[in-house]
Amino acid sequence: MRTLKNILVTGGAGFIGSNFIRYLFERVGFPGAIVNVDKLTYAGNPESLDDIRQSYGGQYHFEHADIGDFERMRDILARYDIDTVVNFAAESHVDRSIFGPKDFVQSNIVGTFTLLEAVRAHWGKRRDTLFHHVSTDEVYGSLGETGAFYETTPYDPRSPYSASKAASDHLVMAYHHTYELAVTISNCSNNYGPYQFPEKLIPLMIMNLREGKPLPVYGDGRQVRDWLHVDDHNSAVWLIMNRGANGETYNIGGENERENIWIVHTLCEAMARITGNSVDSYKRLITHVADRPGHDRRYAINCDKIKGALGWTRAVAFDAGLESTIRWYLANDAWVNRVRSGEYRNWIERNYGKR
Ligand code: NAD
Ligand code: DAU
Repeated sequence: MRTLKNILVTGGAGFIGSNFIRYLFERVGFPGAIVNVDKLTYAGNPESLDDIRQSYGGQYHFEHADIGDFERMRDILARYDIDTVVNFAAESHVDRSIFGPKDFVQSNIVGTFTLLEAVRAHWGKRRDTLFHHVSTDEVYGSLGETGAFYETTPYDPRSPYSASKAASDHLVMAYHHTYELAVTISNCSNNYGPYQFPEKLIPLMIMNLREGKPLPVYGDGRQVRDWLHVDDHNSAVWLIMNRGANGETYNIGGENERENIWIVHTLCEAMARITGNSVDSYKRLITHVADRPGHDRRYAINCDKIKGALGWTRAVAFDAGLESTIRWYLANDAWVNRVRSGEYRNWIERNYGKR
């Protein structure tokens, strides 16, 4: 069991990172400082943690910065006496990587490299530190009808996004072997839950259902993803940070494989239950559109290692998690409208000054 004192969370204004910070304060009761470093791309919204900022102001700190800025990273590591880094920061959307791969190379590869360099410069040979890197099952490629990804599955990334994540994973492990940096890596399947930018499948479909817009299903919709609630992902990350073995990778998954079209039908049915409108009025919005280029057909995670070695279990049943996620989006129109409009940037200036 490690003693983690002060944690730097990168990408903490995004979907998983903001839920992680909330998890540390509200569920874990973490006693040290938590520093959220985020570049505030289109996907970053510090307003997601406004209540945390108000309740835990003495412990919670926000730094508007790019992980690719070596001097800023080194200064932040020193100023807050950081002994633990958890790296969520990344460009995360596969479709965007197809149309504009450059930002993915910059943030995911060069950014992670620069952060590793800053940590190496600041920590030197210290042994009471940890760099935890958050990665994805997409680095393993695409599966056929059967089988699953293991920690030993060779990397075979297919999109600019997954290639950039694979490169960053390799850099993290290279720093472990070469410079003896204490590291852990987690490779996770598809997350869902509150505060996810409404470009990803589940929140996009919820908002389009709400607004009576077409539900764009790529290709035949028979692609399979393994869905995991963000709180279960974060409990796994926290467990690895505390008890994971130095230099090890852990897969995290929902063991909950679903075809995309099944997800869309289920969302239509849940929306009908919640609103009282007919299921048909929602299902007729389903529109098959051109497939994503190089679309990975199936992902499935084997997560026996984290269950066996660290005793991780999931707490959120998929039906309940999906229903609470729908209800969260219906109740938080204002958040969705702000992240879509970019209006939250005015909020940043009001609260943090002009940047
Ligand atoms: P997100 O897009 O919602 O958030 C990413 C955050 O990183 C944003 O706040 C953004 O402003 C910030 N960021 C981007 N580039 C940065 C940079 N150069 N410097 C500082 N901050 C930067 O993404 P997410 O869904 O929360 O994913 C978080 C991490 O988890 C990513 O590394 C992603 O690859 C990984 N992951 C995501 C999923 C998923 O289903 N969403 C599954 C497995 C792994
Ligand atoms: O597997 C983990 C990965 O999951 C993470 O590493 C990524 O950061 C995260 O974005 C996610 O990638 P996907 O490409 O699987 O997620 P997305 O929500 O974009 O798409 C899920 C599936 O739904 C995928 O097969 C494409 C399909 N899809 C997506 C959208 C946005 C559609 O059919 N229609 C859509 O409009």
